[in-house]
Amino acid sequence: MLTRVSFIAAAVAAAFATLSVGAIAADQPAQVNPYAAPQSASATDFIEVFAKLNGKTPGYRKGHARGVCAAGEFVPSAAARQRFATPLFAVDKAPLIMRFSMGGGNPNADERRGARGLGIQFQLDDNQFHHIAGLTVPLFAGKNPQQFLGLLQWSAKIQAGEATPADLQKYFAANPEMQAQREWSQGRQASAEYTSSNYYGIHAFFADQPNAAAQAFRWQLEPVAGEQQLTAAEVESLPPSFLDERLTERLKKDGKVVFNWVWTLAEPGDATNNPAQLWPADREQVTIGTITVTSSGSDQCEPVNFDPMRVALGISPSDDPVLPIRSVAYAISQGMRLNNQ
Ligand code: HEM
Repeated sequence: MLTRVSFIAAAVAAAFATLSVGAIAADQPAQVNPYAAPQSASATDFIEVFAKLNGKTPGYRKGHARGVCAAGEFVPSAAARQRFATPLFAVDKAPLIMRFSMGGGNPNADERRGARGLGIQFQLDDNQFHHIAGLTVPLFAGKNPQQFLGLLQWSAKIQAGEATPADLQKYFAANPEMQAQREWSQGRQASAEYTSSNYYGIHAFFADQPNAAAQAFRWQLEPVAGEQQLTAAEVESLPPSFLDERLTERLKKDGKVVFNWVWTLAEPGDATNNPAQLWPADREQVTIGTITVTSSGSDQCEPVNFDPMRVALGISPSDDPVLPIRSVAYAISQGMRLNNQ
């Protein structure tokens, strides 16, 4: 969902740099501050604001509307088997249904800019599944669903001519936790291919351990061939749609694309409930296995709901307040799109 938002954010970036948080009086009560985040946020609120931003998109996902199916294979590492107690790592290998996508609910999203997404369904023994769905940014635009909802609502108001980018600047100033994601994204171009970027799970999850309490972790996928961004010239010269074709070409040329699946392990005191803040850079990382993309272009992923709360035994969601909202929003979106709404 970040594309349109990133666009609007980019438009105000220069002015934002000069804006001071002091624009909102410190002693003003939160409830009368028009730039405070909404006090509550439900999955339905998100579905409604996606409709305001993107209009009716019957049959499409309400977030990450534009995307392409792929298939592949997961092979767990010996370290994963040793350290964590989950059927996810009990397999020699597991088939994967994957979907690469563009952030945002626009089925014709411009692929030259914006975050890419990746959903993966691990097909385990006994008809069990594990799901992950991540982005090419490691941080979320908000410490909770309310902050992110406010961003989308201001963006919709700007689009409708009911607010100006200056309002969005004031919103960011009143919600400084949203700054980390903006800072991380500054100066980075979008990835040159769907498979030439890291993907990040952003939220914390827990994994059972054989002889200890469950371990909090965050995951990322790292392409073995390394990351590659578009050049500034390519951003200007490319057509708005090129990612599906590049994926097909890549698989034709190399036969496959391999990602390392890496988990970063929390230490005591690391917050598990704030997706807008990274853990310190020195945390231990474990390579959990490889994820290999082998083909693309089928329609196998279309009905799949890559709900990140649907996890294998031995893995559990953290107390990150964004996770349960995602779960409900994805279910609503799946129901709508499979019903051609
Ligand atoms: C309040 C926060 C969020 C809301 C309301 C939301 C909503 C949605 C919705 C409605 C969909 C379409 C689901 C479907 O029809 O199957 C979607 C897809 C997706 N979202 Fe989110 N999302 C949120 C946060 C996130 C975050 C934090 C990430 C990354 C960590 C993420 C990654 C994705 C990806 C990769 C897809 C595409 C999955 C696919 O290909 O089916 N979203 N989102």
